[in-house]
Amino acid sequence: MVRVGIVGAGNTIGIAGMHIQGYKRIPEVKITAVYDILRERSQEYIHRFDLKDAKACESYEELLGEVDAVSICTPNAYHIELTIQALKAGKHVYCEKPFGNNAKECEPVLRYAESSGKVCMIGLCYRGIPAYMYMKKLIDEGELGEIFYVRQSQGGNRIANPEVKLEWRMQEELSGPGAMADFGSHMLDIGDMLIRDCAGPIREVQCMSTICIKERKKINGSGTGAVDNDDVASFSAKTEKGVLLSYTASRIGSKHTTEVYGSGGCAFFDGKEPFSLQIQKKDPDGGYTGDLETVKVPEELYMINENVPKQPFVINFYFAMKEFIDAIETGAPVVTDFSRGIYIQKLIDALWESSKTGNSINIDFQ
Ligand SMILES: NC(=O)c1ccc[n+]([C@@H]2O[C@H](COP(=O)([O-])OP(=O)(O)OC[C@H]3O[C@@H](n4cnc5c(N)ncnc54)[C@H](O)[C@@H]3O)[C@@H](O)[C@H]2O)c1
Repeated sequence: MVRVGIVGAGNTIGIAGMHIQGYKRIPEVKITAVYDILRERSQEYIHRFDLKDAKACESYEELLGEVDAVSICTPNAYHIELTIQALKAGKHVYCEKPFGNNAKECEPVLRYAESSGKVCMIGLCYRGIPAYMYMKKLIDEGELGEIFYVRQSQGGNRIANPEVKLEWRMQEELSGPGAMADFGSHMLDIGDMLIRDCAGPIREVQCMSTICIKERKKINGSGTGAVDNDDVASFSAKTEKGVLLSYTASRIGSKHTTEVYGSGGCAFFDGKEPFSLQIQKKDPDGGYTGDLETVKVPEELYMINENVPKQPFVINFYFAMKEFIDAIETGAPVVTDFSRGIYIQKLIDALWESSKTGNSINIDFQ
């Protein structure tokens, strides 16, 4: 049995709720503690998710005394200190993405992670979307031929409403970059996961960004404050073999889509359809002229046991939480470990720099 503690119950999106839904489908897990800096949130989550074995903790230290592993779901700026504290206390850590506000701040964690021998995982959980598993398989098997380019777009509509107050994610001090890091972290992870084996690692990035709603009401009611990180970021990356990836991250309106174009055909993913892809074959001597065909993801790719949920979004959190718990129980490595978290964070740093200087940035790490 693995005793898990939830840190940061949720006040805006409340991603902790997805962690809980994932854990509840894993028989080896007991959620034994919840801690939120807003104390009433912990009790509210215990009630809302019917966490019968969980204690609403008064402090983080108290939570650490009740668990073997933590799920850190706080604003980005607190990820690092909470992670280090958990590792020092000998706990396994699942930390939400992005790893922190910037890579420099994250790097000291690696030292604690390595010496702890604990499982350390970053919440880059979109890899568990069945359509992405299938897209990767098709690319690896050469079904799309030589990859030409990739286009991804991700974000949300909630913040398009100017009445949404000035949240932590709109302040650089608490979040680092905005949409660029929030949605960019997932997109950079997925784009690289899909094509690195055939196109090589990213070698160059460029970014432009903008703030669309510059002023918002403060949460505490004391007037308004400035949004100081991006609502929308448009960026591109080029790999070692010259394949271009093009991205839009937007929190003021966006569809979730991924398109991969290759010499053998193209594949389209629509975030609303995580169990299928659309495929169009390419005429070897012409264009993408074949019929657009909707193909279901083969169930054997994701129906690995009877607990796998079939709801969009819940399924990828289930796979992430299961990978974390399996690693704790078996010692197996996790794919999105802290090194991966720092790699993605360094790419975000480069985008942030590019958006400020207007320069394209060479990437000399992988
Ligand atoms: N994986 C995904 O798809 C995904 C989606 C949304 C958010 N996230 C990430 O999850 C994290 C949380 O985002 P959210 O939208 O759920 O935030 P949220 O605002 O809904 O919840 C954060 C909670 O943390 C609490 N908190 C703040 N500081 C704390 C501290 N020091 N100790 C304990 N609790 C503290 C707040 O009171 C709040 O209840 C962020 O890092 C975000 O990037 C990931």
